[in-house]
Amino acid sequence: MDPRLNWLRVVALLAAVSSAIAAEAIPSNEDESKVPSYTLPDPLVFADGRPVQDAAAWRQRRAELLELYRSHVYGRTPKGLPRPKGKVLSTEADALAGVAVRKIVRVPLTSDPKGPAMDVLIYLPKSAVGPVPAFVGYNFNGNHAVTLDPGVPLARSWVENRKETGITDHVANERSRGSEASAWPIGRILARGYAVATIYYGDVEADFDGGWKTGLRGAVAKEGPAHVFAPDEWGAIGAWAWGLSRALDHLETDRAIDARHVAVIGHSRLGKTSLWAGAQDERFAMVVANESGEGGAALARRWFGETVWRINTSFPHWFCGRFKDYNHDVPSLPVDQHELIALGAPRPVYVASAEEDRWADPRGEFLATKHAEPVYALLGKPGLGVAVMPPVNTPVGGTLGYHIRTGKHALTAYDWEQYLDFADRHLKPAKAR
Ligand code: GCU
Repeated sequence: MDPRLNWLRVVALLAAVSSAIAAEAIPSNEDESKVPSYTLPDPLVFADGRPVQDAAAWRQRRAELLELYRSHVYGRTPKGLPRPKGKVLSTEADALAGVAVRKIVRVPLTSDPKGPAMDVLIYLPKSAVGPVPAFVGYNFNGNHAVTLDPGVPLARSWVENRKETGITDHVANERSRGSEASAWPIGRILARGYAVATIYYGDVEADFDGGWKTGLRGAVAKEGPAHVFAPDEWGAIGAWAWGLSRALDHLETDRAIDARHVAVIGHSRLGKTSLWAGAQDERFAMVVANESGEGGAALARRWFGETVWRINTSFPHWFCGRFKDYNHDVPSLPVDQHELIALGAPRPVYVASAEEDRWADPRGEFLATKHAEPVYALLGKPGLGVAVMPPVNTPVGGTLGYHIRTGKHALTAYDWEQYLDFADRHLKPAKAR
């Protein structure tokens, strides 16, 4: 036989083996003893090996890290996107049994009047005497889901079908009103002296692979829904993060809001989003990531809970194309998530976990926060102030905050109490506390 044929066979066999390896699932792991040893990239060392020794050098390193996150993880937001002004659709001076002012604002996301637009639902404490600090964050099921307030219109965008909401055709219905209210204790937030602004994330992009075609990313792509994404173009998390900044643009125009003291908050996939929004947009004065897990606050290099392979397989639309190159090679990622938290510095960042939410890797979330500390220290800010993970229901922190509470994956009243206490320390002038 022609010896070249044998070579061809060997090459074909090697190709088959390597593609089999590449396709191999990297299962989740919930056994701490199986977590391999790993080396984290150092946020205070430039890619070329130079150390970061002062605040000025950190600004440069910060730009370098942002660029790494753009090209390898979340993708790049297109340059020069239009930022049309929001329009107040309604104002109710006497909402929530008289304790709130409610505003609904439509913010177009493109310059096409028929293009995607997001509705920002704002509640302000009626008793406020001056501009108040605020929390802004996305909800999962529509603005109407965060409250029983009948004045909030049902979401207009595609919504997830869920047993609990009785939605079967991706269209919001009355039964889903208030279905997410436990994650948004609005009365309590207002009573503590904060405004709250929330947006349905599906207004920016429906959360499924292909949802981008009718969302912001499709609307701004030259070829529209026929667009083929380059490996470093933005994923859905990038688009959602962009929307949060546009919400902040609007809050800056509302005199009732102290826009220099706005915290961005998110749970789970929306916690990943709030971290990325806060990293890019330094106008956010505080960042809260509730149980944000893989691709959020959890260290990717720890093999615990969800894996990079798993998240890219289940949710291929969330991150940029290049992130998939790391499915089977996480140690080659040029960043890890402690650096995403560090991009919040010197601003306050709060990371939280839940004991039963092992999928999100609570220890990995704590360790990422811990490993962001050197950047805070360089900038003269206290970090967590603890050497080891605190027991459950024991919040810790200085400029970085952390807790692990008992219970399951959710944004709860307990979580909010900690964020409000943290915000009192960081977003309110001392005399107002
Ligand atoms: C899935 C996903 C997580 C995500 C979560 C959520 O569980 O694997 O990465 O955080 O959904 O958004 O609730």
